Amino acid sequence: MPDDMKCLDPVSIRAIRVIRRHLLKWYGVHHRDLPWRRVPHNAYRQVVAELMLQQTQVVTVVPYYERFVKRFPTVSDLAAARLDEVLRFWAGLGYYARAKNLHRIARIVVTKHKGRFPDTVEGLQQLPGIGRYTAGAIASIAFDRRSPILDGNVKRVLARLFAIRRDVNEPATVRRLWGLAEAILPNRNCGDFNQALMELGATVCLSKSPQCGRCPVRNQCRALRDGLVDRLPISRKRTTVQTILMAVLLIEHRGKYLLCRRPAGGLWPNLWELPTIVCSKPSDVRKTLKKLVSELGVTPGSVAFSPKPLFQMTHRLTHRRIVLSVYRPETELQPKQVHPRFRSTWVARRSLSRWALPRIHQKILERVLSLSLSSKRGRMER
Ligand code: ADE
Repeated sequence: MPDDMKCLDPVSIRAIRVIRRHLLKWYGVHHRDLPWRRVPHNAYRQVVAELMLQQTQVVTVVPYYERFVKRFPTVSDLAAARLDEVLRFWAGLGYYARAKNLHRIARIVVTKHKGRFPDTVEGLQQLPGIGRYTAGAIASIAFDRRSPILDGNVKRVLARLFAIRRDVNEPATVRRLWGLAEAILPNRNCGDFNQALMELGATVCLSKSPQCGRCPVRNQCRALRDGLVDRLPISRKRTTVQTILMAVLLIEHRGKYLLCRRPAGGLWPNLWELPTIVCSKPSDVRKTLKKLVSELGVTPGSVAFSPKPLFQMTHRLTHRRIVLSVYRPETELQPKQVHPRFRSTWVARRSLSRWALPRIHQKILERVLSLSLSSKRGRMER
């Protein structure tokens, strides 16, 4: 028996050969035409795509990926760029540590590996931000290595195919799933096979309302046979969501907005934003706003706020829900009132898109600009 099949019983061995064949055939016909799939053996492009795809859906990634590789077409272009410029092209995609890691990776590959990416899982895992899944995906797609992958989608597919009735986050089950992910990999076309697993999880074997009628491996699916599809995978991972309140100040002067730079650590590192402060509770918002004003170097008594925010926006991160209340001071602030030691700048409306802002601040500004546009129109029509 080949080594890769040792963890399977004889029934599974036959089933696995069929699964490989059916999945590869289905992928050949039904895969989505994604930009990084047009250049499978370009390791740099696969690394960019895989880092962008960590925690982020394909539809969100596609336009960012296209803009990014247009601006940084090769690993040397990325290594030569400044981090600020990289962040500008990442702004809005979230999880900014990935952008920093990608930039570090490019510099390591250029300086230590003569511009060539390591072509093994072990070598790739030495690079910052590349874990076992990402290394497996890159090694199989770019270098045709027989390297398995296991993420949330693949866990779901395997838990159903093999009717795994245990919590898929328990270490012992995770080990078993990695074993299965390896066992079902064919000896050739591993990149396509791994992408077929991802694709099946993303488009057919959905967590809610799975499309079993369209599944190429429905006849091999033990969960379907045993009527367990809706109950698998079992995942007892508790997801406690913490709510964070933030007050945001919209300070405008002659068509320019005040933006401040966030610190290098924590949430949204090094990005630019409208002046923002975390509030401990809703009743503290106005008091905290005064604190923010004084941090800007402005005498708090000289600025008044209406009791209600202009509007609120909510932003969801993996374990956090951020509620942002946007306030506009009732008194106009002059640029010279803002303390020069504060890392801030005044940016004209038309230049805002050139600054690296977190997605939620981009949305706030889009809303502000559409509000001011519609109030201007209202005035013209009156
Ligand atoms: N999710 C993670 N990696 C992916 C890839 N290469 N293609 C599509 N979805 C993915």
